[in-house]
Amino acid sequence: MATYKIRVATGDFLCGGTLDSVAVTLVGTQGESPKFHLDKCGKDFSPGAVDEYVVQSEQDLGPILLVRLHKERYGIFPPTRWNCSFVEVTGPSEEVYRFPCYQWIVGYATLELREGAAKTISKDADNQVFLRHRTEELRAKQQAFRYKEFQPGWPKCLDVATVDDLHPNYQYSSTKTSTLEVNMATGQVELKLKGLLDCKSSWNKLDDIRRSFWFHRSPATEYVSTHWDEDAFFGYQYINGVNPVTIRKCTEIPAKFPVTHEMVAKSLENHTTLDQELEKGNLFLVDCEILEGVPATELNGRRQHITAPICLLRLTPQGELLPIAIQLTQQPGPESPIFLPSDSEWDWALAKFWVRNSTFHIHEVLTHLLYTHLMAEVFTLATIRHLPMCHPLYKLLIPHTRYTLHINVLGRVRLFGPGGLIDEATATGFHGLSVLLAKGLSALTYSTLCLPDDLKERGVESLPNYYYKEDGMKLWEAIHSFVSGIVSLYYPDDISVREDPELQAWVAEIFDKALLGRESSGFPSHLETIAELTKYLTMVIFTGSIRHASVNNGQFDFGAWMPNYPSSMRKPPPKAKGNATFESNLETLPDVSTTCRSLFILWLLSKEPGDRRPLGCYPAEHFTEEEPKQVIATFQNRLAQISKEIEERNRHLPLPYNYLNPPEIENSTSI
Ligand code: FE2
Repeated sequence: MATYKIRVATGDFLCGGTLDSVAVTLVGTQGESPKFHLDKCGKDFSPGAVDEYVVQSEQDLGPILLVRLHKERYGIFPPTRWNCSFVEVTGPSEEVYRFPCYQWIVGYATLELREGAAKTISKDADNQVFLRHRTEELRAKQQAFRYKEFQPGWPKCLDVATVDDLHPNYQYSSTKTSTLEVNMATGQVELKLKGLLDCKSSWNKLDDIRRSFWFHRSPATEYVSTHWDEDAFFGYQYINGVNPVTIRKCTEIPAKFPVTHEMVAKSLENHTTLDQELEKGNLFLVDCEILEGVPATELNGRRQHITAPICLLRLTPQGELLPIAIQLTQQPGPESPIFLPSDSEWDWALAKFWVRNSTFHIHEVLTHLLYTHLMAEVFTLATIRHLPMCHPLYKLLIPHTRYTLHINVLGRVRLFGPGGLIDEATATGFHGLSVLLAKGLSALTYSTLCLPDDLKERGVESLPNYYYKEDGMKLWEAIHSFVSGIVSLYYPDDISVREDPELQAWVAEIFDKALLGRESSGFPSHLETIAELTKYLTMVIFTGSIRHASVNNGQFDFGAWMPNYPSSMRKPPPKAKGNATFESNLETLPDVSTTCRSLFILWLLSKEPGDRRPLGCYPAEHFTEEEPKQVIATFQNRLAQISKEIEERNRHLPLPYNYLNPPEIENSTSI
């Protein structure tokens, strides 16, 4: 007789326990055990519990390869869902085998778990049991998770209609769902009660904006509402605001934007010229060309407007980034004057409103939705479909895909799909959004998503006080080092990367489904070396966590004061100077109803609805060996150090930049 000790852990989730009967079968190299029913005195499988059992097998089963978990009917009770964290088996010679699960088991079912040591397929070459297991696992997942086209020219997405169609493993927890529902309901009730949602007129005065959502104010929203009209704060937002990735160095004044020294002389000191500033590398551009031709929608019965402005900014000797010229279209000429800080107060304010509004569209549709949410969805699907649970890269990546499918499916139904919240609150509506997103995907490159390459390409590596860059680079390097540590444990050389068919299928699918197979994107369709693999994995983790946090978490901070981030413009861009007044600007900015709808979205999306997993926090132990656990611990220590450095820096800033402080970053794109 051989004695086995079995420990079964239940996930610490609301309703994570089960009343159903649970049995296990142990599968070893020397045979299979009978089915052992796990039943002890008292209640088994409560949330957070680790239950222990001792079972006897007539034969020694040898090293244990698999555990079959059987969830079966118990008496007259109806089936209940069960969240199993792991099973641990101690054999007759006290050898311990750990079987990670971290899944919901729904209804009556048998789940086969393999021992937790991470292995690429080449390490299973001599083991038919493991080879069969990984093939069957992938076949089942590829059947269950399929792609569909949501809109032409968009990345492909998961083929389900609603979040109810998702497997519970990928759904928000009940805590997260209820928190989000409460947030949605209270936000809407608040606006309804104030009668603002149905008010289609202009704001009478800017201070009235404080009536909407202002009780959600924070030091950041107060700061923005005080400094929003300062040129220095306008420039600041292109490096540390919610869209810190579009500004680029100006190496020559573009022919389509004929700014001259005479125009901007008042913005420069006496001893310098526009050409000299250009040579010194002090000029930067925000060019919204991609908005050209994007159609605008009607909101509240009125046609809205979109334009494609260009803004020239100058880095001053004091380190401020100041806008010095704005052209509101891509076609220079008498009907598209170049606005200057020396123009009338309301002309210059209107020109800046247009740039901020254009930034709103580019930010929400491209840098937020496309670069993070939709890319992360394909990363998630390819990981599920091509990497079996025992694959080291599955274990590395799966925490960074948590809830991404849920938020995107929900987004398609309620937020950015036809008739969703964005359709009713922004000048693009759904149709314009769809056109812009497809344009954005056709221009997206691999460099855009790799921070060091992106900074280099935009020529902004040496821009001072660029906290997004500074914090982002520290985090990029921390992730790169973490990933490198994991990769080195499982890939001894470049050949092992080239000859891992699961890895190659994973990267090929991302190229095919996210980039639609476009070679000019520069995205790899296969990986040849350890260095390429490490960079690619860093990009995947960075995108879902850090990149998303940087463009998501500050949405309400910077948008709550609507004039700083208008979601729509009700009048076309001016064709001449001298006509703007305070009143005409208010008639151009969004009406009360549109403002409130957009603020509701920004507030909702800035608030992670509970059940958080900050960057580097891995309560689900998919890795069971010591070496990867040490690599994780080193990563966590590095993140703690970065956090300290950020907090120290922030103590001296009038507006702290905290979006990339590791405890504020979620492991995955989940809101
Ligand atoms: Fe988001």
